[in-house]
Amino acid sequence: MYILDLTQNSLRAGATWVKIFIDEREQDGLLVVEIEDNGKGMSGAELERVLDPFYTTRTTRRIGLGLPLFAAMVKRCTGEFKITSTPDKGTKIAALMALKHWDKPPLGDMASSLVTLIAGNPGVDFVYQHRRGANEYLLETKKIKAVLEDVPINHPTVLDYIKKEIEKGLFQIEPWK
Ligand SMILES: Nc1ncnc2c1ncn2[C@@H]1O[C@H](COP(=O)(O)OP(=O)(O)OP(=O)(O)O)[C@@H](O)[C@H]1O
Ligand SMILES: [Mg+2]
Repeated sequence: MYILDLTQNSLRAGATWVKIFIDEREQDGLLVVEIEDNGKGMSGAELERVLDPFYTTRTTRRIGLGLPLFAAMVKRCTGEFKITSTPDKGTKIAALMALKHWDKPPLGDMASSLVTLIAGNPGVDFVYQHRRGANEYLLETKKIKAVLEDVPINHPTVLDYIKKEIEKGLFQIEPWK
């Protein structure tokens, strides 16, 4: 849900390219989650405000809780949260936290999440890179689109194929016991 929420931020910022990177580092017991986009970015002043959960109470403008909630979850998991953004270039949210922690929510059904994103945003290029230990799974919708030619990427048959491919790919990067 956090990943979907952060990706929605990217899409609302007009991104045409969004990269989701997940690294389950069994070597040192850490989890890396990064969401990067080429959206409109944020100014330094905006950046300062987005992580302030009290900002909402002081203004009539609606400021969401997506980023503060994600930052708080990362902190509970004894992690670090970093956000870098350049106006007109894009934004990168990076989190490093304990791979196994009571407060860390499960990654959830990433295949369904991605298919939902692709179905609703066929014009956006998504990159999904998921590492687990030494293994890696990579999905690039741009490459799929090139093969499809005139068939839209959000055609039900294509979406079904993509979902199965992701599930297969994630299964093959072998969850450890
Ligand atoms: N990737 C991004 N690119 C550009 N601006 C962003 C990005 N992510 C967040 N922002 C800015 O930060 C604000 C706060 O984001 P946050 O996710 O905390 O709340 P929200 O998206 O406004 O509301 P909610 O997530 O609760 O629906 C956004 O309204 C937007 O202005
Ligand atoms: Mg949001």
